[in-house]
Amino acid sequence: MIRYSFATGNTNPETFPADAFGEAAARVLPTMAADLNQYPGKLGHEGLRRLMAEREFEREGVRIDPDHIVLTNGSMQAVTLAAETAAQGNNLVVMEEYSYVGSIRAFDAMGIEMVGVPLDEEGMRMDALADTLERLKQEGRPTPFIYTLATYQNPTGAVMSRERRLKLIELARQFDCIVVEDNCYGDVHFDGDKPPALYALDDDPRHIYLSSLSKIFAPGVRLGYLTASPALLERVLARRHDAGPNTLAAAITYEYLHDKLWQHVEMANDALKAKRDTMLDALNRHLGNECSFSHPSGGLFIWVRLPDDVDPGRVQEIAAENEVSIAHGSDFHIRNDAGPFIRLAFGYPTIDEIEAGIARLGDSVRQARGSGAS
Ligand SMILES: Cc1ncc(COP(=O)(O)O)c(C=O)c1O
Repeated sequence: MIRYSFATGNTNPETFPADAFGEAAARVLPTMAADLNQYPGKLGHEGLRRLMAEREFEREGVRIDPDHIVLTNGSMQAVTLAAETAAQGNNLVVMEEYSYVGSIRAFDAMGIEMVGVPLDEEGMRMDALADTLERLKQEGRPTPFIYTLATYQNPTGAVMSRERRLKLIELARQFDCIVVEDNCYGDVHFDGDKPPALYALDDDPRHIYLSSLSKIFAPGVRLGYLTASPALLERVLARRHDAGPNTLAAAITYEYLHDKLWQHVEMANDALKAKRDTMLDALNRHLGNECSFSHPSGGLFIWVRLPDDVDPGRVQEIAAENEVSIAHGSDFHIRNDAGPFIRLAFGYPTIDEIEAGIARLGDSVRQARGSGAS
């Protein structure tokens, strides 16, 4: 049985406004007979699209026409729609070599070959990106698109520096690639300034930008969105065959969030920040001598480097025996390469569970070391 769940990027049940959300549903449902008896269309709920356009304006200072925002079934649907569109029948993507496991699995299932670029604490390395794009071009396989998690990268927590963002834009233009920017965590922000999105630094029309309500509100509502310039957006919409996003979820979420989006986000982030701090503190106390770990300024994850003589798979097994679930670093590698990493998610467990679970994880690492099964 797992009592301490650090494996998946779930959000915080303690800050989900169940009662107020129920009241929002009760207010809006009686008005929805007509809307619920029609198919939603390809863009989805107009109010929520307007709200997401405001969200983008307030973060990036860029005005997006709400009619250029497409609501999706979580941002995961936006990932697959964007990839299908951007691959243009040339099934290749260049991306951070560690990335979101859902996107890796989707690209794999779609037959899109993933070419990895190493990253450090400032995100994707631009020298390596330039070399990769040039090599592929020389091989006669020009890169149709770059997929990047520039902000609070999953799994590493890295934030791409502004300098690298500008370089990525320059390289994308030079090698004629579409940039698919996945900004799922952009507003799950704890310290310092929010970094600018790539699309806000560039007026080139070859960007597809996607984001979500999963990480600022709740993944169970399955609401994400994408935006692109009109010509590219038309190509995305030509691939949408699901009769549109869920009107019910969008309407209730809009009713709840429309006059308190940032108030909700701040409240949720304050609680997440306390959990991040608790986890970092516990890691320092229980694993500070053995491991190094990221200090993320946003997002939901801490990326832990284990000692070289410890097998992350063995740690995962022993941790599970100790009722702790963690994610194996290789799950996030495009070729499943087993580096000495594990990923810990701090959004879902309580503060007490984080304290107790990290103590058990510390014991598990030492047990794995002692077992000599590296
Ligand atoms: C980087 C990234 N993109 C997309 C997603 C998909 O999230 P959702 O479909 O819930 O919006 C996730 C989920 O963890 C993620 O980490």
